[in-house]
This record gives sequence, structure tokens and C-alpha cells, in this order.
Amino acid sequence: MAGLYIHIPFCVSKCFYCDFVSYGGKLALAKEYLKAVKKEASFYDTLCPRTIYIGGGTPSFLPAEEMESLLKFINEEYSEGFKEFTFECNPESVNEEKLALLKNYGVNRISLGLQSFNDGELKLIGRAHRAADFLKAYEAASKYFDNINVDLMAALPSQTEDSFLRSLKKLIALKPKHISLYGLQIEEGTPLYEQGYSYEEDFYVRLLELGYKELAANGFKQYEISNYAREGFESIHNTNYWFNGEYLGLGAAASGYLKGVRYQNLCGIEEYIKSVNEGRRPVLSEEELKGKAKIGEEILLRFRYLKGFKPCAQMLKYFGGEFETLKEEGLIEADGELLKLSRRGKYLANEVFRRFVEPF
Ligand SMILES: C[S@@+](CC[C@H](N)C(=O)[O-])C[C@H]1O[C@@H](n2cnc3c(N)ncnc32)[C@H](O)[C@@H]1O
Ligand code: SF4
Repeated sequence: MAGLYIHIPFCVSKCFYCDFVSYGGKLALAKEYLKAVKKEASFYDTLCPRTIYIGGGTPSFLPAEEMESLLKFINEEYSEGFKEFTFECNPESVNEEKLALLKNYGVNRISLGLQSFNDGELKLIGRAHRAADFLKAYEAASKYFDNINVDLMAALPSQTEDSFLRSLKKLIALKPKHISLYGLQIEEGTPLYEQGYSYEEDFYVRLLELGYKELAANGFKQYEISNYAREGFESIHNTNYWFNGEYLGLGAAASGYLKGVRYQNLCGIEEYIKSVNEGRRPVLSEEELKGKAKIGEEILLRFRYLKGFKPCAQMLKYFGGEFETLKEEGLIEADGELLKLSRRGKYLANEVFRRFVEPF
């Protein structure tokens, strides 16, 4: 099963916590960028993806005309029988005209970034929208789409247990089919990091646990560390990643995994365009996963998918010692023959993962 991911690195402005590859103030490059994405696709063998994901950055920030040219291209090149086609939207840049376009061209899942319903919290993290903009966007999206995901964040500046739960309850009341709940990571180099913002680990874990309980009580199943869905609405595209499935990644900073080789593209928009225009694959790094690195990657992905797994002989050979240490630290636990993240490990998963993989 193969997936297709296309990265759109344009945003209205940069949120204070975000270290994804995305840029404010560069939308003037959109036309040229999309031309390069189409050309980059021609560097690869034809693919019949089962899932398509247009992520960012902020794909809904593309002007309607550019959006249509990208959707047309996808329909012409990759239309054969995909099951899930997700398009990421932000409240401040999505509107009915764009939603109708998405619907017309076969998009069947929308992911909307809310982060919080509290305007004070949204301001402190530099979001370009406020709660009222989200409600308007959600209402419009609901007219066209049934399968909607909403992103929410925990441990934001000034957030309390109460304000977090209020946001979550308001969101649940809107009845989205899928909710991604992320604990804020304070990434080096972001404005929040520079401001010295930090939180207590216990507070962070408590919020995520409260979130888990509230979501479970309302019929959402946690099928991955940060992902909750109503029955039948788990994201197929993301599940493919977690089962180490192949996918083609196009665009600046996109990563891909094809024929056992993982690659990551150049991050700068201009250098990405230049490379493609000169006929070179715009790859920053690429590595064939084998031996210990391949096994480490597989362990990480299996842990993400929460159900637990029975470690094979190779996993025990390379990482038997790590499993024991992590058990002693209370971050993973045995469930019969299966190993899985513990209650605490689920929320501190990055600490577990870094024992198995080098950052790529
Ligand atoms: C890459 S963003 C793209 C979606 C869209 N641009 C938006 O901001 O709504 C995907 C999601 O990752 C989450 N995210 C981004 N940076 C994060 C961080 N430092 N810690 C935790 N979650 C983060 C946010 O919830 C965001 O909606
Ligand atoms: S809108 Fe999304 S991708 Fe853009 S800066 Fe904010 S979190 Fe990052």
C-alpha cells in the first residue's frame, strides 16, 4: 500500500512553537513552487497511491487558482482508486470557494488546525486565527465534508486544566470524526523556546491523560499516541506510515520511503525549486534502512501504534538491553508476550523513541 504526501510550505505567519518547515511571507513563490512539485513527480516511477495527503505549512493558504492547478494535476496523475484524500486547512485561510474546489476534485477528508478555543492562548502561541474564525471554518467545512479531523494542543502558555478541558469539550460537542491531540513540544530556536517557556512534566502528562479520558468517554478511540477517532475514521494515510508502508513525498522538506530507502528533500523553497528546475532530485539526505537502523525504526513505529507487539529475535538481539532499561524506568511494560508503552510512556514517547533511532 503506497501513500502520496505533498508538502505546501506557506503559512500566513509563523506560530511561536512551530519548527515544521513552513514560511510566512513567501506566498508569491506558490506558482513557481507548484510547477516544481509537478516536475519533481516526473522524476519517479508512476504510482497508484491508496492515500493522498496534502500537508504543510498551510495548504489552504494557496490562492484558489493555484489550489485548483494542484488538484487537477493530482487527479490526472494519481486518480486511480485512492481511498483517502486529506487536505490540511487553517481557519484563517479556508473559505467556501476553496472547500467546494476540494470537494469537486475528490478530497474526502479535511484536517483543521484549532489548537485551542481560548483566544488568550491562541494569541500567546502566535496563531493567525481566533476561536470565532475556527467555528466559521468548521461550519463551512461540515457542509462539504463528513470526515473532519481537528488538531488540538495541550500544555500551552497560560493554559490550565480547566481551560484545556473547556477547549476539548467544546470541540467534542462539534462532533468531529477525528481529533489529533498533541502535547506541546518546545523546540529549540522557536520563539517559545527563546522566551524560556517551560512546563512541569507532571502537568503535561496530566493534561494528556485528562484528554484521553474525556475523549474515551465520548466514543473516541486512541489508536496512536496523538490520534483519536470514532469507529472507522482512523486515518489510513498515517496508519501506512506506522506500518512502515511505502510513500512518495514531494515538495520542500517532504520525506519519502520507497524500496527500502528513506529520503528527505531540501528545506528551502528557493533551493528546492532551483534543484528541480536543473533536473536534479531535490534530496537533502537519503539512507537505505538496514540492520540495526531498520530494526530500530520498526520498533518505533510498532510502539506508536499502541496495541503492543511481540519483539522478534532481531529486535531482542539489537535492543534487548534498551527494552530492559525502559521497563525499569517505567516507560514501557510487558503485557504477556507483548511490549507496549506504559501509561506514562505514551505521553513521553519521544524519550522512548530516541533510544531506538538516530534523528533523521
Ligand atoms: C505541521 S502542523 C500543520 C497544520 C496546520 N498548518 C496548522 O497549524 O493547523 C500540524 C499540527 O502539528 C501540531 N504541532 C505543530 N508544532 C507542534 C509542537 N511544537 N508541539 C506539538 N504539536 C505541534 C499542531 O497541532 C499542528 O496543527
Ligand atoms: S500554521 Fe501550522 S505549519 Fe504554519 S507555522 Fe503554524 S503550526 Fe506551523
